[in-house]
Amino acid sequence: MSYEILLVLLLVLLMQADHLALGQTICGSNGNYSSNSAYSANLNTTLSSLYTNIDNDGFYNASIGQGADTVNALALCRGDVQLNECRDCVQKAGSNLVDSCPVQKQAFGWEENCTLRYSNATVYASLATAPAYYVISPQNVTSPDRFREALRVLLDDLRGRATGGSSARKVAAGYTTGPDYQTIFSMVQCTPDLTSEDCNSCLDGAISEIPLCCEGKRGARVLRPSCYVRFESTPFYNETMLQELESVPLPPPPLTQPTPSGKKNGSTTVVIIVVVVVVCLLVAVSSVLFLRKRKKHKLTEIPQTIDGISSAESLQHAFSTIKAATNDFSDENKLGQGGFGMVYKGKFPNGQEIAVKRLSRDSGQGDMEFKNEVLLLAKLQHRNLVRLLGFSLEGMEKLLVYEFVQNASLDNFIFDSIKHSDLDWNRRYKIIGGIARGILYLHEDSRHKIIHRDLKASNILLDREMSPKIADFGMARLFEEDETQGNTSRVVGTYGYMPPEYLIHGQFSIKSDVYSFGVLVLEIICGCRNNGFRSGNGSVGDLLSFAWRSWQEGRGGEVVDPFLRSGSGSLNEMLRCIHIGLLCVQENAADRPTMASVVLMLSSFSMTLNIPSAPAFYSTAGGGCASEQPRRSSPDQAYITDLQPR
Ligand SMILES: *[C@@H]1O[C@H](CO)[C@@H](O)[C@H](O)[C@H]1NC(C)=O
Ligand SMILES: *[C@@H]1O[C@H](CO)[C@@H](O)[C@H](O)[C@H]1NC(C)=O
Ligand SMILES: *[C@@H]1O[C@H](CO)[C@@H](O)[C@H](O)[C@H]1NC(C)=O
Ligand SMILES: *[C@@H]1O[C@H](CO)[C@@H](O)[C@H](O)[C@H]1NC(C)=O
Ligand SMILES: *[C@@H]1O[C@H](CO)[C@@H](O)[C@H](O)[C@H]1NC(C)=O
Ligand SMILES: *[C@@H]1O[C@H](CO)[C@@H](O)[C@H](O)[C@H]1NC(C)=O
Ligand SMILES: *[C@@H]1O[C@H](CO)[C@@H](O)[C@H](O)[C@H]1NC(C)=O
Ligand SMILES: *[C@@H]1O[C@H](CO)[C@@H](O)[C@H](O)[C@H]1NC(C)=O
Ligand SMILES: *[C@@H]1O[C@H](CO)[C@@H](O)[C@H](O)[C@H]1NC(C)=O
Repeated sequence: MSYEILLVLLLVLLMQADHLALGQTICGSNGNYSSNSAYSANLNTTLSSLYTNIDNDGFYNASIGQGADTVNALALCRGDVQLNECRDCVQKAGSNLVDSCPVQKQAFGWEENCTLRYSNATVYASLATAPAYYVISPQNVTSPDRFREALRVLLDDLRGRATGGSSARKVAAGYTTGPDYQTIFSMVQCTPDLTSEDCNSCLDGAISEIPLCCEGKRGARVLRPSCYVRFESTPFYNETMLQELESVPLPPPPLTQPTPSGKKNGSTTVVIIVVVVVVCLLVAVSSVLFLRKRKKHKLTEIPQTIDGISSAESLQHAFSTIKAATNDFSDENKLGQGGFGMVYKGKFPNGQEIAVKRLSRDSGQGDMEFKNEVLLLAKLQHRNLVRLLGFSLEGMEKLLVYEFVQNASLDNFIFDSIKHSDLDWNRRYKIIGGIARGILYLHEDSRHKIIHRDLKASNILLDREMSPKIADFGMARLFEEDETQGNTSRVVGTYGYMPPEYLIHGQFSIKSDVYSFGVLVLEIICGCRNNGFRSGNGSVGDLLSFAWRSWQEGRGGEVVDPFLRSGSGSLNEMLRCIHIGLLCVQENAADRPTMASVVLMLSSFSMTLNIPSAPAFYSTAGGGCASEQPRRSSPDQAYITDLQPR
C-alpha cells in the first residue's frame, strides 16, 4: 500500500495559527475513566508530579497507581528552554490535556515549549510515532530541489547527533545555508528514554514525512509523541542555552529576512493530521515498507542521478573568474601546498571568500567524469566538512573552489610551541568529536560511501569558532575509479597516518580512515607528531608505541601535552580519548571500531570500551616523555604518492 493512499485516509484539518498558542491535544483510544475513579485521582497526582519533579534535563516520567488504575506519564521540554519555563509549560500542558480529554485514559499534548503524554499503558522507553501533528509555515522556498537536499543533509546530521545523545538528553540544533542564501535553522529531539535505535527510527520517520506534509515550505514541524523535527527560516532556538550543553555554532544573521512566521500576520497554516488509531498500525507497517524501499533505493542509486544540484553548470565557474578572484594565482594569495595541488585564497566580486585548489596533475578522467565527481562531492554537506562550492574546467586547468575557512589547519596549532596554548582541552575535545562526526558522515550518512584516505592534522581546518572541518575528502574519487573497498596499486597518503594493510598491501577500507583518526586523536592529545615523534632520550620512536606502553602501565597522563596537564580539563576524558585512539590504531583492521561506535564512545561515558592490544607498528624501542620533544610547526615532509605496494 502506498503512503499517499494512506494519507488520504487521514483526517486533515486546517486551522489558523492562533489556535496553536494553546497547544494541541489529541485524545487516545485506550478507553475511558469516570470522574471520582482511582484513575482520575492518580492522573491528578501524576500530572503534578511531572511538573514538580522535572529537572534541568527537561525530562521526567512518572507511574502512579496499582494494576489497572496505574497512570503512566512523561513530559519532555524543548532542549533549549529554562527550567522555570519548562515547569510552566508542563503544568499548562497537563491541565490542557485534562480539559480536552476529560474522560480518555490516554492523551497526547504538544505545546510550544514541551510535550506531554499519558496512558494506562507503559509509556516509558516505548517508541510512539503516532498520532502525528504537523505545523507548516506559509512561505514557499525557492529552488525546491536544492532546498530539499540542503535540508536533508542538515537533518541527517542533526539526527545523528541527537541519536548519539545521552540517556538524559537527545537533542541537536544547527543551521545550514540552502540555495539562494536561504538559511535553514533546525532542531530535532527525542525523549531521552528511547534507545539510540528507537530515536533514530523515530526521527528518520519524521524526516521522511516532510516531503509528504510540508514539501516546498520554508518551515515546518513534524511532531510525534516520541520525537520531533522542526526547521524554520529564522533562528528560533536559544543557541546560548544549547551551546552550554553541546557545541552548536552561533547562527549568522539571516541574509534574507522573509516575513516573520507565526501570529504576527496570523497566516501560519496549521495542518493537523489526526491519525485514526486503526490506521496507526497501517502507517507503522507501511513506513517500515517505505523505509525499506528507500534504503534499497539508496543502495542501487547511481552517482549520475544527482538531484538537488540540477546541473554541473550551476557549479561551474569560468577560469577567468577564478583567475581574477585569486589575483592571477599570485604568491601572496598562496595558502599552501595541499595534496594534489597548490591552494590559493580568493575573493569573488560579491565579497565571498574562497579557497581554490589548482590541481597539479591530470586526474586521468574525462571531463564528464570529473564533473560528475565534483557534483557528487558538492552534495556532501556537513558542518565538519569543508564545503566544495564549485569547480572550473578549461583545457588542462582543473580548479576546485571551496569555502574559505578562517583559522588555518590544526597542525598550525597543536604542533606549534606558542599557538598550542590556543587549544585548551575543551576545544581539543570538541575538535576530536567534530572530526569523528565528519568522518562518520563520509562513511555512512552520505549517500555514497567515501573513504578519505588522507586524514591528517594538516587536512583538518578550523573555522572562526575553532570547530574542525575536514578538507580534501573525495580526492581519491577524483583521481581513481575504484572507491569501494578494494586493492589499489597506487598508495596515496601520508606516512605516520597509514595503517599497515594499506602501506604494505595497498588495501583500503573505511577502517583505514579509522586508523588515521586514531593517530590524529593521539597527536591532538599529545601535541606532537606521530611521524618523527622524539622520545626523551632523543631517539626517534613512535607515538603509538609510547602511548600504548604508557597507557597500559597506568601512566597515560605522560602522553598528555603538558599544557593540558596544567589546565583545568578532565584527565579522565583525556585518558578515555587515548583509550579510544588506541582502539583505532589496532594492527588488525577488524579490531578497529567503526566511526559510528567511535562517535558513540565519545558521547557516552557509560559505554565500556574494549581493551586494546598493541598498536600497529609496535616497537619496544625508546621511551620517555613526550613533553621533552621539540615543538615545531613544519610541513609534512612525508607526503607520498605513487608508492608501489610490495
Ligand atoms: C469514551 O468517551 C468518548 C467521549 O465521551 C466517547 O465518544 C467514546 O465512545 C468513549 N469510549 C468508550 C470506549 O466508551
Ligand atoms: C488535582 O485536584 C485538585 C483538587 O481537586 C485540583 O485543585 C487540581 O487542579 C488538580 N490538578 C490537576 C493537575 O488536575
Ligand atoms: C521512569 O520509568 C522507569 C522505567 O519504568 C522507572 O525505572 C523509573 O522509576 C521511572 N521514574 C519515575 C519517577 O517513576
Ligand atoms: C517558550 O519559552 C520561551 C523562552 O524559552 C518563552 O519566551 C516563550 O514565551 C515560551 N512560550 C510559551 C508559549 O510559553
Ligand atoms: C487500558 O484501559 C483499557 C480500557 O479500560 C483496557 O482495555 C486496556 O487493556 C488497558 N491497557 C492496559 C495496558 O492496561
Ligand atoms: C505557495 O505555493 C502555493 C502553491 O504552489 C500557493 O498556493 C501559495 O499561495 C504560495 N504561498 C505563498 C506565501 O507564496
Ligand atoms: C538563552 O539561554 C541563556 C543561557 O541559558 C539564558 O541566559 C538566556 O536568557 C536565554 N535566552 C532566552 C531568550 O531565553
Ligand atoms: C580564529 O579566527 C577568528 C576570525 O578570523 C579570529 O577572530 C580568532 O582570533 C581566530 N582564533 C585563533 C585562536 O586564532
Ligand atoms: C585484495 O588482495 C588480496 C591479496 O593481495 C586478496 O586476498 C583480496 O581478495 C583482494 N581484494 C579485492 C577486493 O580484490
